Amino acid sequence: MKITLSHIKADIGGYVGHSASHPEVLAKAEECLAKAKQAGLLIDYHVTKCGDDLQLIMTHQQGEESPKIHKLAWDTFVEGTEVAKKLKLYGAGQDLLVDAFAGNVKGMGPGVAEMEFEERKSEPVIIFMADNTSAGAWNMPLYKMFADPFNTIGLVIAPNMHTGFTFEVHDVKEHKKITLNAPEEIYDLLVFIGAPSRYVIKAVYHRDTGEIASVSSTQRLSLIADRYVGKDDPVCIVRTQGIFPAVGEVLEPFASPILVEGWMRGSHTGPLMPVSIPDSTPARFDGPPRVVGLGFQLSEGNLGKPRDMFADKSFNLARHQANEMADMMRRHGPFEPHRLPLEEMEYTTMPQVISKLRDRFVDLD
Ligand code: F6R
Ligand code: MG
Ligand code: MG
Repeated sequence: MKITLSHIKADIGGYVGHSASHPEVLAKAEECLAKAKQAGLLIDYHVTKCGDDLQLIMTHQQGEESPKIHKLAWDTFVEGTEVAKKLKLYGAGQDLLVDAFAGNVKGMGPGVAEMEFEERKSEPVIIFMADNTSAGAWNMPLYKMFADPFNTIGLVIAPNMHTGFTFEVHDVKEHKKITLNAPEEIYDLLVFIGAPSRYVIKAVYHRDTGEIASVSSTQRLSLIADRYVGKDDPVCIVRTQGIFPAVGEVLEPFASPILVEGWMRGSHTGPLMPVSIPDSTPARFDGPPRVVGLGFQLSEGNLGKPRDMFADKSFNLARHQANEMADMMRRHGPFEPHRLPLEEMEYTTMPQVISKLRDRFVDLD
């Protein structure tokens, strides 16, 4: 059975500040998607949150980029924004960058990751969602899952994975894409994806079969809106087991927290902390950035009851390490490398400071 898994998300208001989502907004989204399921548009859905982001996970048979599904998500965000406004939530409707829906939510503010595939005999899928960081945050975890034998032993000893995976990389500044094969082209691949503010892994494919393995949201809000409108807070869908990495291989990269861009005012570097959904409440310095992972065992497109994968105790040490890393970064205050390089900061006073002080700059001898 061919199904489409669509994940569309937006920050339509935070509670309190940018720290969490309000239960009434989640309830409104639940109500909207229940109607769409009843009407037969959706096979199934799951509404959840990561920090202050509303996450709509939907299965259907309308294919990718379906105007009907995108409109459903947009209308749900609009209705949720009404609730957020009534409650005076912080930044109500902030990711809805345009006034009217025009066929596809891409470029309108919400983040989107979608994949269409033939459901296997058993189809375990993990959906990762992050708060207070940008799309490039998935680059290293995806590289480890699909190209690094020190993370994924299946690449070495599983015959159905030994040929490797193909990576589709987007240049989000020039709007170009390139496809590179692992393992032969990993050095070329790393030149690009090691610069995650510009080059972002959009999708990964199993080379022997061409099957889609992973897809991420790559929308960069600041590039769409041309001004700071919040961090992208990306999502990433990963199919697991069989010809794909095992669940444990897919989760393993998050056991060793890495530094990503985002955090306070989208202008800092900080650790990506794996947490359960209830713990996705970035509070310290509006962070540190969080990642949650929900596991689904699809059945004819039905999502069933998801598992909150990072609730597992084996991620306690990673959380502890992420807190230590947060402390170390905070020690730098307004200095790099905690503060992002000038061109990557989402907030800056540089233009006004320069214009005020221009005359006081004198040439060096
Ligand atoms: C991070 C984020 C927050 C805000 C910060 C200031 O992505 O959204 O850290 O940037 O709370 O928000 P404003 O400028 O709205 O007061
Ligand atoms: Mg927010
Ligand atoms: Mg957010």
